[in-house]
Amino acid sequence: MNQSRGKFITFEGIDGAGKSSHIAAVADLIRSRGLNVVSTREPGGTPLGEKLRELLLHQSMHLETEAMLMFAARREHLAQVIEPALARGEWIVCDRFSDATYAYQGGGRGLDKQKFAALEQWVHGHLQPDLTFLFDLPPAIAGERIAAQGRELDRFEQERADFHVRVRLAYLERAAESPKRIRVINADQPLEDIRKQVEETLVTNCL
Ligand code: TYD
Repeated sequence: MNQSRGKFITFEGIDGAGKSSHIAAVADLIRSRGLNVVSTREPGGTPLGEKLRELLLHQSMHLETEAMLMFAARREHLAQVIEPALARGEWIVCDRFSDATYAYQGGGRGLDKQKFAALEQWVHGHLQPDLTFLFDLPPAIAGERIAAQGRELDRFEQERADFHVRVRLAYLERAAESPKRIRVINADQPLEDIRKQVEETLVTNCL
């Protein structure tokens, strides 16, 4: 890795795990160290990617189309945003990345994970996040949090409870395979405790 390359931090978890507020706090912390940060998300993060996001979240499609569109949006995101920013020495704080495809399309949808390994190698064989926070909590609690927000749900949020149970398990399996990169954070704790744990992990590992 080039010495001056920025760091690539990703955030994962089932819907309703509460990652959003922590993403903003991490970006602020990195900025407070005088570093430039790009805050972005998947699917999305580019004009084309945001159009694909709209389709992925609201339009029904073949499950393999869904998986391939996730990687197509990711290819564009890497080319337009992530790789140029890292090369300039900026940091990337990204709401979801390929671990989400393993969890949602692999665990949730039940697609063969070997196929993602091939797509992952194609799309970003040379690049993995430097650090990934996995916000973990039981789907029943996450579901209550989402219901309390009273908003319209997307295709993934509308899935039944067993889908979210499989997504959670696939995330935890993936974390067990890459324990150094993926840090599991118990998201069923007071916000302030989670914030401290995230901050400590970031400072110890990256800053
Ligand atoms: P999410 O990140 O939860 O956004 P918001 O905080 O606005 O709700 O929404 C993105 C959804 O896309 C989420 O339900 C997970 C899903 N997703 C996949 O199924 N596969 C993927 O590869 C990615 C990146 C996301």
